Amino acid sequence: MAERVQSEIRKKLIDAFTRNETEYLSGQHLADIAGCTRTAVWKHIEELRKEGFEFEAVRRKGYKIISIPDNMSADKITLGLNTEFLGRNLHYHDSVESTQKNAYKLAYDNAEEGTVVIAEEQTAGRGRMDRKWHSPKYTGIWMSLILRPKIPIPKAPQLTLITAVGVVQAIEEVTGLLPEIKWPNDILINGKKITGILTELQAESDRINSIIIGIGINVNTGIEDFPEDIRTIASSLAIESEKIIDREKLIRTILEKLEKLYLLYLEKGFFPIKLMWESYAISIGKQITARTLTGEIKGKATGITEDGVLLIEDLAGEIHNIYSADIQI
Ligand code: BTN
Repeated sequence: MAERVQSEIRKKLIDAFTRNETEYLSGQHLADIAGCTRTAVWKHIEELRKEGFEFEAVRRKGYKIISIPDNMSADKITLGLNTEFLGRNLHYHDSVESTQKNAYKLAYDNAEEGTVVIAEEQTAGRGRMDRKWHSPKYTGIWMSLILRPKIPIPKAPQLTLITAVGVVQAIEEVTGLLPEIKWPNDILINGKKITGILTELQAESDRINSIIIGIGINVNTGIEDFPEDIRTIASSLAIESEKIIDREKLIRTILEKLEKLYLLYLEKGFFPIKLMWESYAISIGKQITARTLTGEIKGKATGITEDGVLLIEDLAGEIHNIYSADIQI
């Protein structure tokens, strides 16, 4: 259960090795980068060695990183992470009730934008509409991100769609699979759910304090790891690709894609994201049924609005705005 928040020095050292993987870095250079003494650098490197990192040390040249340990860890995730802020403050846990809960608390305690909580297992993972999210140990990516965009509250659902685009792009790049999005936030491969996204708000009157984005991905989950009742509708990247997927690499790629999309969104607005989202969406242009809290609407999904609301044209030609629903295609 031990939480490990990386110390600033350790983080700077890992960052330096990451960005210069093929080079030797001198003790003095590392000390300057990390803002500490050469002795402190040496101590940190020794600690990393005990955790399974391998370094080559050459007199007068310095240290070069050779290899990183096998199990997932905050350090290994950060190693090679090419982002400005997303994932730079990373909280890694062996087991938590829900990463949403930890992220919510961190956000409340003023954690910086881009803070990420990752767990190997969730004992009370939550899905949309108060459903349970099954999160068995070492098989998936269960993570929550804290963002603090200065946008009006009604625009918050856009962040779910941005996240879906980022996750699809990352899965595509890392696995070669071709995921599709089912509005608003399910990512499917061959018609089966691989990923769910849960976006929650901390807001004061009309101002967003933070948005907590929860991402759950079935990565190396075997069919027997799923509860029986969802085996026909859920799948994992390993099942679909018939390969074990490097979870850390996938996490890094998601954070990198997502940061780029988020910055694009802050600069240019939702329109470019909307186009990308629509290109991955399976429901658009199809006959669908939307089950809302107030009943069923059948018709053709014609697209999404600027606010991420789904538009359905029924048989009578009337357009319905769908804010929250389960979709059947
Ligand atoms: C859905 O219902 O499709 C959304 C599922 C979201 C699951 C993720 S896993 C990480 C984060 N922590 C949680 O408890 N839920 C989200």
